[in-house]
Amino acid sequence: MPLIIDGKKTSEDIKQEIAARVKEIKIEGGKIPHLAAVLVGNDGASQTYVGAKVKSCEQVGFQSTLVRLNEDVTEDELLRVVDEINDNPDIDGLIVQLPLPNHISIQKVTNKIRPEKDVDGFTPANVGRMALGWPTYVSATPYGIVELLKRYEIETSGKHCVVIGRSHIVGSPMSILMARNEYPGNCTVTLTHSRTKNLAEIAKTADILIVALGKPGFVTADMVKEGAVVIDVGIHRIADATKKSGFRLVGDVKFEEVSQKASAITPVPGGVGPMTIASLLYNTLLAAEKKVY
Ligand code: GUN
Repeated sequence: MPLIIDGKKTSEDIKQEIAARVKEIKIEGGKIPHLAAVLVGNDGASQTYVGAKVKSCEQVGFQSTLVRLNEDVTEDELLRVVDEINDNPDIDGLIVQLPLPNHISIQKVTNKIRPEKDVDGFTPANVGRMALGWPTYVSATPYGIVELLKRYEIETSGKHCVVIGRSHIVGSPMSILMARNEYPGNCTVTLTHSRTKNLAEIAKTADILIVALGKPGFVTADMVKEGAVVIDVGIHRIADATKKSGFRLVGDVKFEEVSQKASAITPVPGGVGPMTIASLLYNTLLAAEKKVY
């Protein structure tokens, strides 16, 4: 059996570390981290994610503020709310949950968030700082993956890292981070996507395979080199009548068969997913302690 990279356990460890730091801050009389989340509309998944973020804040002793706006809120009104939070000195971190309704420009809203409070790491300033290797808020999923590689002491220097998927949120930043001149990094990186020719052959040359293309069970055993480290970012609900819930969760990787070949692998659920909230909390702590700006 390969090493199972346990994101659930690791995220709990990180939350405990953050909670311990909050206790120290209280004793020192410092600023208790405060995260504000803006949620527009009634999208079920977004409500679940934001609910989990707010609950996690409570768990580690942060303050949190949830601002809920109607689906039909105007872009101007949302921009005004973001600016109000920008100007509120008590709030350290600000996230606007995505997706937004079609009549609102994600670019305009993202650009309105003050980079100092952008704990999602989505603003051009923070993406640029990440690319330059400057102190920044690395966005939640890439940061979660980096932290898993670190805590499991996965060797990365000189390895071939193949990333499947070029999204702004995962694939592109992952390719930059894995090529950086620091640990984890120093990889030779190949960034692949839907137009890549011979994707299976390229994937098979990976020492580290990071899969974030959003297709259930896309990566099969024949696409994976013996001994590769496999990081699965996908998460999909698949109907399953044998489950009480009526569904089961699967990733972009066929876990059963790929785990026979991998030396280490993240499961779904319980791999990359739980790390994302831990990353957000960590960034909010950095913001409150003014460690980035
Ligand atoms: N929607 C899906 N993932 C995220 C995230 O990490 N941050 C925000 N703001 N919205 C999301």
